[in-house]
Amino acid sequence: MSLLTVEIAAAGYGPATVLHEVGFEVATGGRLVVLGANGAGKTTLLRTISGLTTVDGSIRLDGTELVGLAPHRIAGAGIAHVPQGRGTFGDLTVRENLLVGGATRPGRAAAADADRWMERFPRLGERAARPAAGLSGGEQQLLAIARALMSTPRLLLLDEPSLGLAPKVTSELFSTLDELCGETGTAMLLVEQNAELALGIAETALVIESGRITVRGSAAELRDNDDVRRAYLGV
Ligand SMILES: Nc1ncnc2c1ncn2[C@@H]1O[C@H](COP(=O)(O)OP(=O)(O)OP(=O)(O)O)[C@@H](O)[C@H]1O
Ligand SMILES: [Mg+2]
Repeated sequence: MSLLTVEIAAAGYGPATVLHEVGFEVATGGRLVVLGANGAGKTTLLRTISGLTTVDGSIRLDGTELVGLAPHRIAGAGIAHVPQGRGTFGDLTVRENLLVGGATRPGRAAAADADRWMERFPRLGERAARPAAGLSGGEQQLLAIARALMSTPRLLLLDEPSLGLAPKVTSELFSTLDELCGETGTAMLLVEQNAELALGIAETALVIESGRITVRGSAAELRDNDDVRRAYLGV
């Protein structure tokens, strides 16, 4: 059964409609990658799922209608969103950032989980008491993902986690993401411009152009699609 069912007739910012007739599903524990050029509407799609835009349509998580719910209720239903750019609170310490992510859970469970993350990723552990603003780009992205997973979501929305990172750091980050979601069974909706890496960890994929889905299929099918190769894989 599908975890997330998206049936958007139109979505955007007040009178400015950005998405048109966007429909797809994410399976339980599944991984979908969304590709698209700058301005195509990728961020708007994630923001729409999180309840941050004006939407006409239906978006359901395990059958529960999300359209009309306040963003915190959508998060509470099991969706964690790692926004584009720095998804961390720079003034808060690394530990505080993690605890914010687990704020809806009992304090002791969240604290134990934060400790577990910092043991698992020593670069975060060593900087536990320092402001997140002092972390490198890759460390901040890792912290943003760990913070999102602190809420034990069923679906993780990721908006261009590779943005601004060196290729080696991006590749490490994607392996970590693959590993973490695999271990926890968390489904993933990943927006990326780094198509090569993203298609490598996804099962299904779609391309958005000017707010509409123009290509969809398995990750393997998109990797073999000539238009996708030219536009997103540079070959
Ligand atoms: N707050 C807003 N109010 C009005 N229009 C907006 C707003 N945010 C984005 N838009 C418009 O919506 C369209 C899609 O933007 P969006 O940020 O979703 O694209 P994107 O695919 O995420 O691009 P990028 O790859 O550059 O991040 C653009 O035309 C943009 O100008
Ligand atoms: Mg964007």
